[in-house]
Amino acid sequence: MKDKIGNIKNNFLSVLDSVNNAQGYESLRVKYLGRKGLIQELYSQLKDAPPEERPALGKEINILRSFIESKTEQLKSRFSIKKVKQKEDITLPGRTPAVGRKHPLTLVLNDIKKYFIRLGFTVADGPDVETDFFNFSALNFPENHPARAMQDTLFISENIVLRTHTSPVQIRTMMNQPPPVRIIAPGRVYRRDTPDASHSPFFHQVEGLFVDRGVSFGDLRAVIQELAKYLFGADIHVRFRPSFFPFTEPSMEYDFNCIFCRGKGCKVCKYTGWVEISGAGMVHPNVFKAVGYDPEKYTGYAFGMGVDRMAMLRYNIDDIRLFFENDMRFLRQF
Ligand code: DAH
Repeated sequence: MKDKIGNIKNNFLSVLDSVNNAQGYESLRVKYLGRKGLIQELYSQLKDAPPEERPALGKEINILRSFIESKTEQLKSRFSIKKVKQKEDITLPGRTPAVGRKHPLTLVLNDIKKYFIRLGFTVADGPDVETDFFNFSALNFPENHPARAMQDTLFISENIVLRTHTSPVQIRTMMNQPPPVRIIAPGRVYRRDTPDASHSPFFHQVEGLFVDRGVSFGDLRAVIQELAKYLFGADIHVRFRPSFFPFTEPSMEYDFNCIFCRGKGCKVCKYTGWVEISGAGMVHPNVFKAVGYDPEKYTGYAFGMGVDRMAMLRYNIDDIRLFFENDMRFLRQF
């Protein structure tokens, strides 16, 4: 062992002078001082020496290590790259840090949430990948309803779909709690559509649901009317038109006054003064039965809301695809 220590020292000294660059220095250091280097190896062999010799041998290895360390340290200073001192050019303009912004859809959604939370609604959530049961059956869609057909729905498998609307969150919420229920459910929805200026295979909705004793259609009208004013101004009115959805009876579609011409008629509203927002209605008794609520005791209203469309109106955006392309030139404007 003693010889070995001596040999290592001699070998080290014999190669020391031939090291002439940073690379050579580094391989020398690794070879002797690295984790699997020769010094480390000596330490691990120490346990094989007779116990009475170990302290003396240990000391010798320590001395050798310090010796090699100080020699390599000297080498290092010779090869280390010298930093070039550069004078700052204080006339250069400063760099502005990039600041993130909220997406226009988030801005509109935040306003919608703020309005409903103030009225005592809570925000509910559900999965984007849904079962046929939540997306259709429990919402009273008959087996052969056209909305189940391939042209609208993106199927994952026979019974699993990408949700085509946020209405399944109504079912999930009601199954999880007894009435009263007062929720909004914002989220992304999917439909088989070829993208163009007004269509995207995914977009965003906010679902609303209010269930209690004695909830009326008048309550729904008031809540939607006040929302229109809150978002777009006191002169924006709401119009309800009879329509059909399997999960509401009666069912309505509702429009806001066009926020560009304030209802006078312009290109955006095709000179009608109104723009369509979404559907709404009174919860169908079959939906209450599906979730185990007593339709004799409780009534409720439900509504949908197209977030993308609202954001397009608010910011005068004429192409829905702009929301999803993440072009910084677009996003920086909000
Ligand atoms: N889910 C419907 C859709 O995507 C919108 C809707 C209509 C939601 C009526 C509702 C409702 O809650 O009551 O077209």
